[in-house]
Amino acid sequence: MTVAVHLPLAEKVDWWVKMLQERLPGWTIEPMATVANPEDVHYAVVWRPRTGDMARFPNLKAIVSIGAGIDHVLADEQLPRGIPIIRTVGADLTQRMREYVALHVLRHHRDMPRQLRAQAERDWHAIVVPVAPNRTVGVMGLGNLGAAAAQTLSALGFSTRGWSKSPKTLSGVDTFTGTSEFDAFLSGCDILVNLLPLTSETEGILNAGLFARLPTGACVINCARGPHLVDDDLLAALESGQIKQATLDVFHQEPLPADHPFWGHPAITVTPHVASQIDPLTGAGLIAGNLKTFDETGTCADLAEAGRGY
Ligand code: NAP
Ligand code: GLV
Repeated sequence: MTVAVHLPLAEKVDWWVKMLQERLPGWTIEPMATVANPEDVHYAVVWRPRTGDMARFPNLKAIVSIGAGIDHVLADEQLPRGIPIIRTVGADLTQRMREYVALHVLRHHRDMPRQLRAQAERDWHAIVVPVAPNRTVGVMGLGNLGAAAAQTLSALGFSTRGWSKSPKTLSGVDTFTGTSEFDAFLSGCDILVNLLPLTSETEGILNAGLFARLPTGACVINCARGPHLVDDDLLAALESGQIKQATLDVFHQEPLPADHPFWGHPAITVTPHVASQIDPLTGAGLIAGNLKTFDETGTCADLAEAGRGY
């Protein structure tokens, strides 16, 4: 079997080629950029492929996303129809997201940005906040990552709620389903965490209308995809005080351009898409395992399901 690998950074391509080759002896793993015979390629392993990349390979059996999201694959307007897409998920990815969400929810909960400002001014400014059970945190998206994040928040003692497309039962989490329960979900969220996939239904969901339905002074954490957020609506909601603070890990354009107003905004924390990057070593093992399973059986557990909004 032949696998073509693409990531935007060439040095990362070389690393993934080496790691996959070690784990798939007998297979041919090569950088997509140097594939000589496109008809030989059976699998593509990609992060942010370029438009038309997949259409070059007439015998493609499946596309592997080096990550949980598949929006970067679907963004290709020339993507051949009907090719299965395999996500890369797993315990490492989930654990990292649990850590990121817990860190930033606790930061907002304890008002650390204000506390750090006081330190800078040598001001003994004691901030007393409600205990976690009196703070409601809402998680949008209850898939692999959202469900794990919600359960972590619940274990920390937060009053935790979650929102998904289909009904869910999660211990310690009040669950809400679909558009009919969206307002009820939002109405109590002091801190809102976005872990939805980017689809035509969810693009721009973090907008002025949503911010207005949160309690005044709520905080927002976007660790899913940049286009979920309407940037100008967030800036206006921060200006008005409707939103107190935001943590943003993902952006319309990455890297975030140096002149973007988010960088210097006093109420925004910017992190460079690091909430939960796939661990390269375990990721290579997961991808090799998924490729072998898919090649032998025609399916695997991490296949992105058609009909889940993708
Ligand atoms: P997932 O397993 O596919 O779960 C997605 C969840 O969103 C599901 O609960 C789904 O509901 C819900 N959902 C989808 N469309 C919806 C809609 N229109 N209305 C309400 N709920 C909807 O995804 P995941 O593995 O948890 O990952 C989520 C996203 O996180 C990825 O797509 C990616 O964009 C992002 N991510 C970011 C990072 C980072 O480092 N910042 C790392 C990894 C992933 P149902 O369960 O009812 O289908
Ligand atoms: C990272 O953003 C991922 O989708 O895994």
